Amino acid sequence: MIDELKTLLVDTENRIATITVNRPDKLNALKNNVLDDFRDVFRSIQDDEDVGGVVITGAGHKAFVAGADIGELNHLKQKSGERASQKGQSVFSWIESTGKPVIAAVEGYALGGGCELAMACHLRVASVTAKFGFPELRLGLIPGYGGTQRLARLVGKGRALEMILDGSPIDAGKALEFGLVNRVVKEGQAVAASREWMSKILTNGPIAMDKAIQAVHAAYPNRAQGFQEEARLFGLLCGTEEFKEGTDAFLQKRKPQFQNK
Ligand code: COA
Repeated sequence: MIDELKTLLVDTENRIATITVNRPDKLNALKNNVLDDFRDVFRSIQDDEDVGGVVITGAGHKAFVAGADIGELNHLKQKSGERASQKGQSVFSWIESTGKPVIAAVEGYALGGGCELAMACHLRVASVTAKFGFPELRLGLIPGYGGTQRLARLVGKGRALEMILDGSPIDAGKALEFGLVNRVVKEGQAVAASREWMSKILTNGPIAMDKAIQAVHAAYPNRAQGFQEEARLFGLLCGTEEFKEGTDAFLQKRKPQFQNK
């Protein structure tokens, strides 16, 4: 396993690698270097015979991941915004296409990029404290790390638009009803329950698991166009006053004042 990670903790036990996003003071918000670390760690896990499956979680009790880092987003312009979206998409697609099962263990907030990360995992276990949501529109943005595509596929178009347009987070019970999570467990139990579930999953044939993941993903061909469009629109928004106002307002801890078109 690689040992130069700045933002992730990795602990491997019983063939299960538990990856913890480790920025609890910023609710584990995804800075660019967190994405780099994810890419490196998944590259290494892919070839690591000691790892059969992966559990992803966030440090602290308050959040899984509260989204992309808004301080970093604030500086994006149209081109750099489109590239940032493409990078998030590509790292999360890398996670999704790993031939080993990946479970998101969610306690607390999984917002924006955090919910997108959870959706890139193959399975999701939430504790009763979990809150899933897409607050991007309040920032003058849209989900840009594959979220518009994966959410619609997981919960259906109507519920996806409900979550994105309304922006209010949903609790674990509603996420279960929506099909956004697979299991809900007691507070503080998401990681333990995910590891336990993974131990059972890992009794299956590893080659067959890899092929099962590939085959299920093959049910959704022609994904490139949707991802491309998401990145283009994300970039376009990064060039607007609305985005500047939305992200400035968050950083200045005030409500955004959006102008009518
Ligand atoms: N990017 C950067 N910093 C973030 C962040 C994000 N997405 N989410 C939280 N933080 C930081 C806060 O700025 C704060 O930092 P500070 O202590 O230096 O001021 C710290 O994490 C704690 O967050 P805070 O807002 O004080 O906690 P809270 O309990 O009052 O609210 C949330 C929790 C999740 C409701 C709130 O942090 C929030 O709305 N975060 C942004 C969510 C979002 O829009 N995500 C989508 C991004 S694309």
